[in-house]
Amino acid sequence: MVFFKKICLFSAAVLLANVSVATEGDAKIGKTKTLACMGCHGPTGNSFVPNFPALAGQPAGYIIKQIKDFKSAGRKNATMTNFALGINEADLIHIGAYYESQVKTPVMKNIMHLKTDEEKTSLLTLGKKLYDNGNPVTGQAACFVCHGKNGDSLVDFNIPILANQHPQYLISTLKEFKNRKRTNDNERVMRRIVDSMSDGEIEAVAYYSSYLVSTLEEKK
Ligand code: HEC
Ligand code: HEC
Repeated sequence: MVFFKKICLFSAAVLLANVSVATEGDAKIGKTKTLACMGCHGPTGNSFVPNFPALAGQPAGYIIKQIKDFKSAGRKNATMTNFALGINEADLIHIGAYYESQVKTPVMKNIMHLKTDEEKTSLLTLGKKLYDNGNPVTGQAACFVCHGKNGDSLVDFNIPILANQHPQYLISTLKEFKNRKRTNDNERVMRRIVDSMSDGEIEAVAYYSSYLVSTLEEKK
C-alpha cells in the first residue's frame, strides 16, 4: 500500500510536469508540414518499418515535447535531430494536432514469427502481469497507472500511447532509457522503472503493449 501511495504521488508530480504544452493546433496545416516525415512515419502516421515509431493517435503534447527534445538534444537521435531542427517552432502545434487526429492501424508483430507458440504465450503472460501489476519483488511500477489499462495512456497529461506500437521500437526505446541513451523523461520516471527490469521483462512488456488496442481509437 505504501508502495502504491508512493507511485500515486510520483505519478502526480510527473503528470504536473507534463501538462504545460498548449494543444490548440490545426491538423490540416499540420499535414502540409509533415510531408518530409512520411517516408519514415507513413502518410497517416502509421509507419511500416519496425524501428520507426508510429505517431498516429499520440497526444499532441507528447509529439511536441519529443520534437523540442530532439531539437535541444535532450533526446538524442542523429536522424530525428536533423529533421526536428528543420521544423519551425510555430508549426509544432499543428504537427501535434495532425498526428493526434490520425487513427492508429495495427502494426505487424514482427520478430514474433521467430518464436514458438509456447514462447509467445509465456512472453505475453509475463508482459500482462508486469503491465497490470508491476513487480512487487523488484518494486517495478505497473505500467497501466500512467499508460492506461488498454495502453491508451493518460492522454490529457501527454503520456504516450503504447497500444499498437511497433514492439521493436518499444524494446529499443525502453533499453535506451535503461542504458541512458534516452534521458528526456521528466523526473526520470521511465528510467527509474526500467532500471529494475531485465531485458527479458522489457521484451515481454513491450510485446504485451503492442497487442493492446486503444479504446480511444474506437471513438474516432
Ligand atoms: C529517416 C527516417 C525519419 C524521418 C524522415 C523522420 N523521422 Fe521521426 N523518427 C525516426 C526514428 C528512427 C525515430 C525514433 C528515434 C529514437 O529511437 O529515439 C523517430 C521518432 C520520432 C518522434 C518520437 C516518437 C515517440 O514515440 O517518441 C517524433 C514525434 C517524430 N519522430 C516526428 C517526426 C517528424 C515530425 C518528422 C518530419 C519533420 C520526422 N519525424 C521525420 C525516423 C524518422
Ligand atoms: C508514473 C507514470 C508512468 C509509469 C508507471 C510508466 N510510464 Fe512509461 N512513460 C511515462 C511518461 C511520462 C513517458 C514520456 C517520457 C518522455 O517525455 O519522453 C513515458 C514513456 C514511455 C515509453 C516511450 C514511448 C515512446 O513512444 O517513445 C515507453 C515505451 C514506456 N513509457 C513504457 C512503459 C512501460 C512498459 C511501463 C511499465 C513497465 C511504464 N512505461 C510505466 C510515464 C510512466
